[in-house]
Amino acid sequence: MNIVLYGPLGVGKSTVGKTLAARLGREFVDSDPLIEARAGLTIPQVFAQQGEVAFREFESTICNELAARNNLVIAPGGGALLNPANRAALEQNGLIICLRAAEDALLARMPHTDRPLLAGDAAAKLHALLEARQSLYDSFAVQLDTTRKSIPQVVDEIEALVAPRRLQITAPGFEHEIALGYGLLENLPALLTQRNLTGTTLIVTDENIKAALPFFNQSGNTPVVVLPAGEDHKNLATIARLYDAFLAHGLDRNSIVIAVGGGVIGDMVGFAAATYMRGIKWVNVPTTLLSMVDASLGGKTGVDLPQGKNLVGAFYPPSLIVSDPLTLQTLPRREWIGGMAEVIKHGLIDDTSLFEWIEAGHAFGSVDVLQQAISVKVRVVNEDPYEKGRRALLNVGHTIGHAVESASGFKLSHGESVAIGMVAEAKLAKRLEVAEAGLPERLARVCAQVGLPVDARGMEPGHIRQLMSSDKKKAGKQLKFALPKRVGEAAYGIEADEAVLMDTLNELVT
Ligand SMILES: NC(=O)c1ccc[n+]([C@@H]2O[C@H](COP(=O)([O-])OP(=O)(O)OC[C@H]3O[C@@H](n4cnc5c(N)ncnc54)[C@H](O)[C@@H]3O)[C@@H](O)[C@H]2O)c1
Ligand SMILES: [Zn+2]
Repeated sequence: MNIVLYGPLGVGKSTVGKTLAARLGREFVDSDPLIEARAGLTIPQVFAQQGEVAFREFESTICNELAARNNLVIAPGGGALLNPANRAALEQNGLIICLRAAEDALLARMPHTDRPLLAGDAAAKLHALLEARQSLYDSFAVQLDTTRKSIPQVVDEIEALVAPRRLQITAPGFEHEIALGYGLLENLPALLTQRNLTGTTLIVTDENIKAALPFFNQSGNTPVVVLPAGEDHKNLATIARLYDAFLAHGLDRNSIVIAVGGGVIGDMVGFAAATYMRGIKWVNVPTTLLSMVDASLGGKTGVDLPQGKNLVGAFYPPSLIVSDPLTLQTLPRREWIGGMAEVIKHGLIDDTSLFEWIEAGHAFGSVDVLQQAISVKVRVVNEDPYEKGRRALLNVGHTIGHAVESASGFKLSHGESVAIGMVAEAKLAKRLEVAEAGLPERLARVCAQVGLPVDARGMEPGHIRQLMSSDKKKAGKQLKFALPKRVGEAAYGIEADEAVLMDTLNELVT
């Protein structure tokens, strides 16, 4: 993995880059001097004599060349990533960190500017340039504000950001590690060896992920089974197909299956591993936001039956979870947004600062916030691995959400349905005087802000109600809700008066 330092001119990409590279024992490559060397001219001369188009061509060539190398610290020029192709090339094998600084700090850092783009009134030009590029800068998941920070401080922060983290599921009989960090997937063989996870290995993924992740071009000799993508294939027929593949590849009781994918692949591979030869080891590499913060954690595996979702399964945790945020870069936008529903849920039930971070409109996706979202589920699972009590908190939004999901004929995604369910359940909680005033509105605002739907207009409330009773976990029993009380706190095992519930559902659809 390369580390790419991007940001406006004057932010310190080169200085920070050099120091960082020295600390990490990497090579530092600054794209502007490379262009100068190739053109035999200074940058202002290239602009003056050959024009900006020629300059941008040099830039693209260099981005592609650097993207093909590894373990570099790269500082592309200030305008380089305006070209989406340059960005995509560098993202294939790199973490882009967007360095930011207040405008006056930027100006102060380049007193004798000879930058062609700032010729004349530098302050006014810088202002215009920053404004024009703001949405580009904002679009990077990883942001680092360098205003009033020294170079060593900025380098410390980057070093901490790229250092791998370890989280631990400690529930008895359930113990395993979550390795979280940028670029971990490319080191998968080493991670496995370090943990004595040796034996015949087989990777299972789906067709979309195989096409999206560069990992599959470098996965060496480990065979890869590619399944069709999607929930429609999360069934026993696919499990039978997996058993066939396991046998064909000679997997025995000492073998290891590696799931690289979203919740569908993880749930299926886990279940196949739980049952093949009465249980073999497996490793989960979640590649969706939903799976990273939710599905991969807690050891539930399984498949759907024609009668309903997740009706067959086992608690069967993997030996190791490897979460690499770089894999999320190719995730389709709708999948990303769906995952945000579970992140918001985690903030809502147990982490006020996580919720407030999203509420403030900060970029989500840096490893620190991912770790926060993961930690909520880890804490809950560690306290109650088999869902005897507190783990029920994770169902906030899901009792109504699941019903809405099926009522939509699964046109709404799981995350979208959970957002709708969360807002409805917050309203229910308010009616029941469990939640504090203002909570439903605040929650709806946050969900809408990240692009999630918050109502089920046009749906039939009676139908939603009926589907809630036929949910497998509630059949034949009085419905029990996990409901939010305030941001950061929820309660479970709450019964709702039928009339109050129907009032809530009626409000949801109008
Ligand atoms: N075991 C649990 O505790 C648990 C918890 C929650 C959800 N789940 C299950 O998880 C499933 C949903 O998981 P999901 O939302 O991850 O869906 P998914 O696995 O179907 O992935 C969503 C889509 O994104 C594609 N994709 C995945 N990673 C990609 C990447 N990095 N780049 C590009 N495309 C990529 C997939 O091919 C798929 O089309 C459901 O079946 C649900 O029941 C399980
Ligand atoms: Zn969910």
